[in-house]
Formats: sequence, structure tokens, C-alpha cells
Amino acid sequence: MDEKYIDSAVEQFRGLLTQQLERCEKMAQNQGKTDFSSLDQIVIGVCGGDGIGPIITAEAERLLHFLLRNEIESGKVKIKTIEGLTIENRLEKNEPVPSDVLAEIKTCNVLLKGPTTTPKGGTMESANVTLRRELDLFANVRPVKVPQEGIDWIFYRENTEGEYVLGSRGVEVPEKLAFDFKVTTDLGTRRIAKAAFDYAEKNGKTNVAIVTKANIMKKTDGKFTQICHEVASEYPNITAEDWYIDIMTANLVNKDIRNQFQVFVLPNLYGDIITDEAAQIQGGVGTAGSANVGDKYAMFEAIHGSAPRMVEEGIAEYANPSSIFKATEMMLRHIGFSAIADTLMEAMEICSEKEKKVVVTGNTDGATCKEFGDYVMATVESLSK
Ligand code: IPM
Ligand code: MG
Repeated sequence: MDEKYIDSAVEQFRGLLTQQLERCEKMAQNQGKTDFSSLDQIVIGVCGGDGIGPIITAEAERLLHFLLRNEIESGKVKIKTIEGLTIENRLEKNEPVPSDVLAEIKTCNVLLKGPTTTPKGGTMESANVTLRRELDLFANVRPVKVPQEGIDWIFYRENTEGEYVLGSRGVEVPEKLAFDFKVTTDLGTRRIAKAAFDYAEKNGKTNVAIVTKANIMKKTDGKFTQICHEVASEYPNITAEDWYIDIMTANLVNKDIRNQFQVFVLPNLYGDIITDEAAQIQGGVGTAGSANVGDKYAMFEAIHGSAPRMVEEGIAEYANPSSIFKATEMMLRHIGFSAIADTLMEAMEICSEKEKKVVVTGNTDGATCKEFGDYVMATVESLSK
């Protein structure tokens, strides 16, 4: 009886290994980097997603139209609303990202995306995972700041492999056992490590923490650590330190030492988990933005989920758009509008920390998403005068 499962699992593993080796080949063919300054027109796609997604994303789109009105008028920027990245459409088409939606996304240079619901169990992959893979968005960049405590962290989370790449392709022997796979490649690790160390070097950082569980995940995390150190050797002014994810998780809540950390580089799943912890330290997952960056495309999103509970309770309009606004700021910077991004950042600091005239609580006792959007835009306006 077990033989049957063993044979089919071995066959499946052969297929997975072959595919992953093909992925390595593809990574080796350098696709070239988009140079935004040389584009005649930058196309920004906007996808609403599920739950509170359409509400916060519509607000971010309104903000973009406001901030980029001159660029849109001159034709330098085009904003495209992309429909169909909804759980209903995905389930109906039985595709994590329906092919026509993906084709539409690929006509854009960058994407601003609302949270999408991930079906639990089953075999349907998360839309995020599909998009990150299809657009080869290998770096998940998540900054977290708590200025009054001197915390200025940036996480470089590997975004296309590790525990995620075959997360929907495990093997099961019913009522006996289940296997999942974790994949770490040389090229995949080298490119995320390079992104982290490049960032550190360009931004005057002196320290990069390489965070793994290499004492247990010996092959995959062992490779990750080794390659990060190889890359580190090309950056003599930056110290690379090894940490295990368990103690690093504790360190982030240790007020005596946490502000010493600067840049983190880590495999996919640890990055997923610890960036939620870090965002909570900053004020909640609703306050952090996230960039998914590849050589050709980039996607910017809130780090929180679609909050279906808020929709069920009829309070979706009270959702906090701060996270997607921070993602918008990261996007503006990425496509070359640093001055506009700086103004937005300053306005966000005023609105969320210094002045707080309009406060979103995620409930009816706070302001609505739209009221907060109005406040941010009015603050930008006053800063530009
Ligand atoms: C994130 C999210 C996603 C992830 C989910 C929605 C698949 O938690 O962006 O951190 O696990 O990467
Ligand atoms: Mg997450």
C-alpha cells in the first residue's frame, strides 16, 4: 500500500527537482534592469484585491492622482486600474492569478496592490506568491521605524523561494504523514544578499544581520548563510553578523539592544514572520509598507491581510490606509520620484505621529479611510506651499 505512495512521490519529486533546476537556468539569464529614468512613460497598475483592499487601494490611487497630477498630465506617468484580482474571479477561473489579469499586469512597469485573500488548505496558491514568482520579485523590502526609540530597520526578505516556492506542492500519505519542501538556490540567495548589502552601502549602514536557523535547516539555511558571507566579503566596510531566527525574534522585543540592528537579510518564511513582529513594534501591521522588487517589475503592497472581518462587520470604510500609503511612498521612490516620496513621507509623519488631527482606529470611533486620505493630501498641500 505504502509502495504506491512512495512511487508517486518519487516521481513527483523528480518533476519538482527538474522544474527548480530550470528556474535556476532562467535566473542565470539576466533579464536586464528597468531604468525608469529612460522610460518615455511609466505605467502604474493598481489592483484592489479583496476585503478592505479595494477601499484602501482606491484611497492610494486617489493620492497618486493628486501627487502625480503634473506627470500624468504630461504623459510621463499613466495609471491603469486592473480589475479581476478578486477571490471570486480567482476561484471561478481556478487560477491564483487569472491569465488575462496577469497579462494586463505585465503591461505595467510597477504595481500597487491591495491585500488578496489566500484560500486556506486546498491546492490554490496565494496570489501574492504567484505574482512574486511570475514577475520574479525576489526582494521583499520592509522598512520599520520608531524614531523616538532610535529604531531604523530594513528587512530584505528573500521573496521567491525557500518555504514558499513549493509550498502548495507537498506530498502526503493520508493519515500517516505529510512532507513540504524548502528550496534555496545559489543565485536566488546571491541576488537577495547583494540587494541587502548594496542598500547598506548606499545608505551609510555599517551592519547587516543574516538571520537563519542554519543549526537545524543545515542544507538550505546553511547555503543561505554561506552565500551571504561570500557576498559580504565584497563589502569590507560592512559587518555581517549571523543570528538565529529564534533569538532575533527575542532581540526585537529587547529594548536594550534592538536599536543597534540596521539591515536584515533572511529567507522567505522567517522574513514573513519577523516583519509582522517588527511592524507591530512600529504600531501595528496596518502601519508598514512593503516593496516586492525584481529587476524588471516591482509590486508595492500593504503588509497586512484583507481583513474580511471588517467587511463582515460593516466597518470596512474605517480601514487604515497607512500601510498602502507607505507602499505608495516606496513605489514613488523606486520609479524615480524621490522628492514627491519625501514630501509624502513627511506628511505621513505629521499625520500619524506629530499632529494626529485625524486618527484611524479601524473602528467606528475613529476616522474613515477617506477622511485620513483627505488629511494626508491637505498636509502634502500645506508642505508644498
Ligand atoms: C505577506 C503575507 C503573504 C506572505 C501571504 C498573504 C501569502 O503574509 O506578504 O507577508 O506570506 O508572504
Ligand atoms: Mg506576512
